[in-house]
Amino acid sequence: PGSPLTDRRGREVHDLRISVTDRCNFRCVYCMPREVFDKDYPFLPRMDLLSFEEILRVARLFVARGVRKIRITGGEPLLRKHIERLIGMLAPLGAELTLTTNGVLLPRMAQTLKDAGLNRVTVSLDALDDALFRRMNDADYPVSQVLEGIAAAAEAGLGPIKVNMVVKRGTNDGDIEAMAHHFRGSGHILRFIEFMDVGSSNGWKMDEVLPSSEVVARIHRHFPLEPVDPNYSGEVAERWRYVDGGGEIGVISSVTQAFCSTCTRIRLSTEGKLYTCLFAQAGHDLRSLLRADADDVRLDAAIASVWQGREDRYSEIRTAHTAAARKIEMSYIGG
Ligand code: GTP
Ligand code: 5AD
Ligand code: SF4
Ligand code: SF4
Repeated sequence: PGSPLTDRRGREVHDLRISVTDRCNFRCVYCMPREVFDKDYPFLPRMDLLSFEEILRVARLFVARGVRKIRITGGEPLLRKHIERLIGMLAPLGAELTLTTNGVLLPRMAQTLKDAGLNRVTVSLDALDDALFRRMNDADYPVSQVLEGIAAAAEAGLGPIKVNMVVKRGTNDGDIEAMAHHFRGSGHILRFIEFMDVGSSNGWKMDEVLPSSEVVARIHRHFPLEPVDPNYSGEVAERWRYVDGGGEIGVISSVTQAFCSTCTRIRLSTEGKLYTCLFAQAGHDLRSLLRADADDVRLDAAIASVWQGREDRYSEIRTAHTAAARKIEMSYIGG
């Protein structure tokens, strides 16, 4: 172990995203539509999930290979029992430690997560209007609970908080300006995400994608914006700031402006497979190695060969045909 890893397109691995559960208490229409993820859906049985100890082993090897950011995702990661214990185990690795959540459990858990060593959270929020919010996530929680979650996270010191809004044209795009208005001057960073063709169950259609350029134009009409340089090379979100000092927003444009050429992310699924792309059709199993008592040298060699063989650039080659192909669900490999 030791040297940084480079893939076939010259990209290094810097970010590890770990999915800790394939379950969620939301049923967002673009991620886990209720018709598919119903009461008979075969979620993973407990023994198939990586244990915290197994996750830590993999994470430690990645950090030795150059990973500087670890993001805990799902499904809804706060549904994983004793998640604060995993955070406590990962924090000493020294990578930046963040978590993506729908926010409903934050009012109760924010302080515990902070105390365990979490650095920041990103909260998904697709609308401010309560009826529209419920239509987007198809679950029985009021939007006020997520807003309280964001406030609790800020109070616990988990900021600056990023708020992710997936925009579906014809569904929640009418709330763009209201969301911008609400978060202006709050210190939180609102980011608009183009609806993507992840997985095979969200019925993705190009006409339901509202290009980020249009999002920026709509907000700019009310609150003038100017572009900001990226924080670091390979940043997913393109940054804009309010000219009057009201803070900044971001747009994530996987569909209209692919960012594969600088993609330094790898994903570890709930059951221990490595995915080198959000749109991958198959993963690389690590769990069988972990459970066969492979030593670190062997595990590291497996990790290295997965990254070194990586060629992915899905968003650059997306077509209606690729969009219809069978792909792994995002709730299982993590956003
Ligand atoms: P920070 O800069 O650390 O806050 O992380 P980030 O900008 O990567 O943000 P985050 O990890 O929250 O990603 C935001 C969203 O962008 C995700 O939830 C996905 O919807 C999308 N996204 C992130 N990574 C990828 C990627 O590799 N490919 C594609 N197509 N979309 C991505
Ligand atoms: N398109 C765009 N973003 C998505 N997310 C989940 N599914 C999709 C999709 N089809 C986002 C969620 C959350 C993060 C985990 O990924 O809104 O912010
Ligand atoms: Fe759950 Fe997040 Fe998927 Fe919504 S986007 S269903 S909150 S995992
Ligand atoms: Fe990375 Fe795949 Fe997303 Fe491109 S489509 S940015 S390669 S995860």
